[in-house]
Amino acid sequence: MTEELLHPYARPTKRDDTYIRIVRGSGAHVYDDQGRDYIDGMASLWYANVGYGRQEITEAVAAQMQHIAAFHCFEPFTNAPAEQIAARVSDLVPIDDARVFLTSSGSEAVDSAIKIARVAHARAGHPERSLIVSRGRAYHGVTYGGLSAQGLPANQEGFGPFVDGMVNLAPDDIEAMAAFMAERGHEVAAILTEPVQGAGGVYPPPDGYLAGLRRLADQHGAYLIFDEVICGFGRLGDWFGAQHFGVTPDLMTFAKAVTSGYVPLGGVAIGARVRAPLEADDTWMLRHGHTYSGHPTACAAALANLDIIVREDLVARARHVGDRLFDGFAALERDGLLAEVRRCVAVGATRLAAGADAFAVRDALLAKGVITRAVNNETLTWCPPLVITDDDIDRVVDSFAGCLSR
Ligand SMILES: Cc1ncc(COP(=O)(O)O)c(C=O)c1O
Repeated sequence: MTEELLHPYARPTKRDDTYIRIVRGSGAHVYDDQGRDYIDGMASLWYANVGYGRQEITEAVAAQMQHIAAFHCFEPFTNAPAEQIAARVSDLVPIDDARVFLTSSGSEAVDSAIKIARVAHARAGHPERSLIVSRGRAYHGVTYGGLSAQGLPANQEGFGPFVDGMVNLAPDDIEAMAAFMAERGHEVAAILTEPVQGAGGVYPPPDGYLAGLRRLADQHGAYLIFDEVICGFGRLGDWFGAQHFGVTPDLMTFAKAVTSGYVPLGGVAIGARVRAPLEADDTWMLRHGHTYSGHPTACAAALANLDIIVREDLVARARHVGDRLFDGFAALERDGLLAEVRRCVAVGATRLAAGADAFAVRDALLAKGVITRAVNNETLTWCPPLVITDDDIDRVVDSFAGCLSR
């Protein structure tokens, strides 16, 4: 037992010996140091799309490390895995001729997208365009750019002051967005949104909402940023939320399932409208980059992970997984055991009936060997590995029913 580890998103006073110590994983299962077996209903934190224990990713990482584990990509250096993953992501996103900036996390990807949007407008002669307009309930990570832009006040408490120039509007109200853009659109660098809001409780967008954002961004000369950190790499039955909803942004952030979490990696895909001002003057330098931007071992993990997603057709499989799981939950809703099921393909949330405590239900599910996540007192979220078997999906639904009816 160690008291030295200060856990992320945790009560600092929670006793160390009450944590569940995960030691191993295989497929959609993880195992703790007491030998207990859990079906992971959350793909860890929305990322383990190919599941656990994939030997070929381990081998790709080991092979890369035997050549060179890490070397930076600041000018004048590069490496093949970073170039290859940029090319793969550029091919997969719906943005034409996208270039890809690499990071190690979703938060860094969001902050990079915000900075790149602002600097692109400044380079285009519009430094007055600095506002980032985001939505209530949005989660864009924990570093100051994304934290300042997000729409979950509890996550901001005590951490101010925040980055200037962030405007957070009602989440689903396209009229409010239109009114704001009519008044201050000439000051806006970008509209920032998740295609499906995830950590805020899984809220798919209203019909036509994302297309409405695209229209408003175009009308007012702003960029549109999709934060695809959860939606990307198959979760919505398409490679990205952009394809799922048929709306193409100017910038797309990604992380999580690009490696299924085997090694941390994130990034931003950047379209032509944003690239052009950055590429207009060959003496100008982009003074932004992380030590590990383009880390070759992380990129090698991503390449092997994408090979698995393609070979096992996991993007298509997301629809099957989502239908089986959420049809099961819909039956629980019809039986009065749940108040609401929100869902988009293979990611969703269940709101419990009045009086139920989501943290207590989460713990009851853990005791039955099922992992979910309580994002507030009434909501559990679901995002299983895309390799989960039908039997395991049925066990999740049955276990959940058992915990709710008690
Ligand atoms: C939409 C979105 N953006 C950004 C982030 C932050 O990513 P990270 O935790 O890798 O910094 C998350 C994490 O859940 C996310 O869901």
